[in-house]
Amino acid sequence: MRFDPWNPEFVAHPYDVYRDLRDHDPVSFFEPTGQWLVARHADVNALLRDRRLGRSYLHVASHEEFGRQAEPEFQEPFWRVIRAGMLDVEPPVHTRLRRLVSKAFTPRMVESLRPRVRAIATGLAEEFAERGGGDLLAEVAEPLPVTVIAEMLGVPEADRHLLRPWSADICGMYELNPSAEVQHTAVRAAAEFSGYLRELARARRDRPGDDMISALAQVVDEGDRLTEDELIGTCVLLLNAGHEATVNVTGNGWWSLFRNPGELDRLRADPGLLPTAVEELMRWDTPLQMFERWVLEDVEIGGVRIPRGVEVALLFGSANRDPEVFDDPDRFDVGRADNPHISFGAGIHFCLGAPLARVELVESFGALLRAAPKMELAEEPAWKPNYIIRGLESLKVAV
Ligand code: HEM
Repeated sequence: MRFDPWNPEFVAHPYDVYRDLRDHDPVSFFEPTGQWLVARHADVNALLRDRRLGRSYLHVASHEEFGRQAEPEFQEPFWRVIRAGMLDVEPPVHTRLRRLVSKAFTPRMVESLRPRVRAIATGLAEEFAERGGGDLLAEVAEPLPVTVIAEMLGVPEADRHLLRPWSADICGMYELNPSAEVQHTAVRAAAEFSGYLRELARARRDRPGDDMISALAQVVDEGDRLTEDELIGTCVLLLNAGHEATVNVTGNGWWSLFRNPGELDRLRADPGLLPTAVEELMRWDTPLQMFERWVLEDVEIGGVRIPRGVEVALLFGSANRDPEVFDDPDRFDVGRADNPHISFGAGIHFCLGAPLARVELVESFGALLRAAPKMELAEEPAWKPNYIIRGLESLKVAV
């Protein structure tokens, strides 16, 4: 098999292909997208920190200068939201936007949320166990991070069911060469989501609550520190990034445990291993398989010269199995001590929500281990067709 992000077989089993790439072709040209694939941990890690590359090029060049076409006009509502969030901008705008919300996500702040996260996780796990199991993904993995991030931002409970479909539709656009239908669905979701948040933020400006949308709406009013578009872009980013990958780590993670029953038994016998187990789940079956960067100045990667204007695809899933960094990398080890996985990224865009994701995951796995100590797989799960944001369709289990 070769690298083929549209082939379900590859999506289900990318790791042998990654091994070949690392061994024989660690920096290789991928014709169908015109990108350079980067497979080794050292290169991926270095490029994420290298300011000669960026998530966008629009701060230094126009589409024409980079030999690209501007996006079609119908996509405007999508890019207006995405380009107003911190993930798609570079300093100094990135620094300003990240600073406005970073205080809420420090390890200390997040630690203070742990009792609330544990209470939600325990309630979900106990109800799930009482029902005798079901779809772990829909019934436990999704509601926990959606509830937590919605509470932090102040999205009313009655509206929370909207967040998951909007996010999933928007994320479709991040896959490689999305179909016309996926593009239209993503644009519609971005327009609806931003319209919803615009109204919510205006309402909170007049009647502020003790939540992040109210706090940001205040800043918009204070002057030039945050535009209304930036507020919307920030909230969409936090609400989407705040649950999408966490849901997949929970689903992929339980599946990893079922496929490694010895390690599941080890974790059941010693829940003190949860923190290292969560890191290993993120390494062994990486939830976000790839991130892209534009080359803003010529660079040399692993002896290959890559010119300005080209896009590189950093293969996180491959970096996380690199034997140069991880002992016996294909072995799943819930007690792995030395685990510098790259699943949260690196450099200026390093995941803002990493401390929160860690608390949610430890609490979610811990609650299910306690409430359903004999949980087992009821049906072989299937992967969604998505390669980049890689997760299961469902995860049916019996308790
Ligand atoms: C950025 C992974 C959970 C918020 C990132 C990036 C990665 C990542 C790889 C960097 C992307 C790049 O450099 O191109 C993950 C994973 C998660 C997770 C694997 C779950 C296990 C969360 C949560 C939040 C969050 C819970 C909550 C707010 C963000 C934000 C950024 C980001 C705001 C952009 C940071 C910036 O541009 O400075 N995440 N994330 N993430 N993540 Fe997460």
